[in-house]
This record gives sequence, C-alpha cells and structure tokens, in this order.
Amino acid sequence: MKKVVILNPKGGSGKTTIATNLAVSLAVSGQKPCLLDLDPQGSSLAWLKKRPADLASIHGINGAHFNLRVTRSWQFRQYPDAQAVLVDTPAGLGRDRMEDLLRDAHRVIIPILPSAIDIDTAPRAIADILLTNYPRDRIVIVGNRVRTRTQALGVLERFLASLNIPLLAFVKDSQLYVRSSAMGLGLIELPAWMTHEEPEAWMRMRAWFEAIPDDA
Ligand SMILES: Nc1ncnc2c1ncn2[C@@H]1O[C@H](COP(=O)(O)OP(=O)(O)O)[C@@H](O)[C@H]1O
Ligand SMILES: [Mg+2]
Repeated sequence: MKKVVILNPKGGSGKTTIATNLAVSLAVSGQKPCLLDLDPQGSSLAWLKKRPADLASIHGINGAHFNLRVTRSWQFRQYPDAQAVLVDTPAGLGRDRMEDLLRDAHRVIIPILPSAIDIDTAPRAIADILLTNYPRDRIVIVGNRVRTRTQALGVLERFLASLNIPLLAFVKDSQLYVRSSAMGLGLIELPAWMTHEEPEAWMRMRAWFEAIPDDA
C-alpha cells in the first residue's frame, strides 16, 4: 500500500481537488484507493458522499481526530485490498502532526497556485517539510489553477526551477473542477468533449503514482 500526502498549509491551494481527482484516476484504472481526510472540514469525505454509487469506488476514512503517532496500519485493516492511500490535509497542519504523518509517506505532493501570494508562502511550506527530515527527492509540486502562458505562470516556473523540486503536472484553472466536484466526480469522468486535453495531466499523475516503488 502506497501513501501519498497532499500538503500545503495554504488554504485553497487545491489539496482536496488533487486528492479527489487523483483518487478517481486510480479508481477508474482498477486500483483501490482510500482517501484519508485529516481536515476537520471533511471536504474530501463530503465529496465522496455525493459520489454516484455506480462509479469506480473509493474508500473514505475520517482521520481528523486520529492520533497519527499511534495509528498506522490498523486504520486500513478494514480495507485489506487498498493499494493507495491519498491523504488530504487541512490548512495549517501543526509541526508534530506533520512529522507523524510524513514518517511513513511514500511521496508528498504540494499544490501551488501561480499567484504571488502562494509563491511567496511556498518556500516556507517546503522548508517545514524538510525540517521533519523528509527526503527532498520524494516531494513533487503540482501547479494548480494554471492559465496558459500568463505572467504568473512564468513566475511559478522560475520559482520551481530555483527549488530543485520537480514539477509533476499543471492543472488548469477550470470551472469543470468546480462542477465535477459538486457531483462527486473527478474531471476525467466528465464527457471527453468537455475536458479536451486536461485528462492528460491526471494520466501523468497516475503513471507517476504507479511508478513509486512499494517499499519506498
Ligand atoms: N484547477 C482548478 N480550477 C478551478 N477551481 C479550482 C481548481 N482547483 C481548486 N479549485 C477550487 O478552489 C477552491 C479551493 O480548492 P480546494 O481543492 O478545496 O483547496 P484546499 O483543499 O487546498 O483548501 C475550491 O472551491 C475548488 O473547487
Ligand atoms: Mg481541502
């Protein structure tokens, strides 16, 4: 079972959007993903409740009140066939909780919006992760709400080049994310004529996930 944590202390950066859409990409390819929602607001679980029962199934676990130090595998015992755990985190996860959470995480995804405010706060978020001794080479960034070739995108690209942390994918700024999530769907479950090339980003993320070694 591989565990990926979606983390950025900044609210609204797209943690829930990426956790839910990645869960869908894995589920439609026949994997058994679990969404572990650590956010007391429970956005991932609220999304899951709306999800139509006939679609590829995703397990949800409410972890808002888990003691991450003592809960390891027991919380997943009810899902022995789960292959992926995607952890959706709240804004401003404390240092201790982050350390406990990252201890057994295979990878971390940091979603970043290409806005000046979000780019300014990102180095701090990355530093906080590195301070837990989490290996830098297991962190990736997803640029979220990207519009093509805007000035802000140039700033994000320069910033990413300076960080030495790979950019896994760009997710477009699209109302289709808002609409699909309101129905408990992932963007790739909308009709293809609506989504154009956007599903490619999710295929790339799925391939990345599948390539993570199980014992990492
Ligand atoms: N790529 C996107 N395009 C359009 N809207 C988005 C996109 N990503 C996120 N949003 C919207 O922005 C808001 C915040 O995103 P969310 O994933 O909930 O962030 P977080 O979980 O980090 O707080 C939500 O209303 C969501 O639907
Ligand atoms: Mg959220």
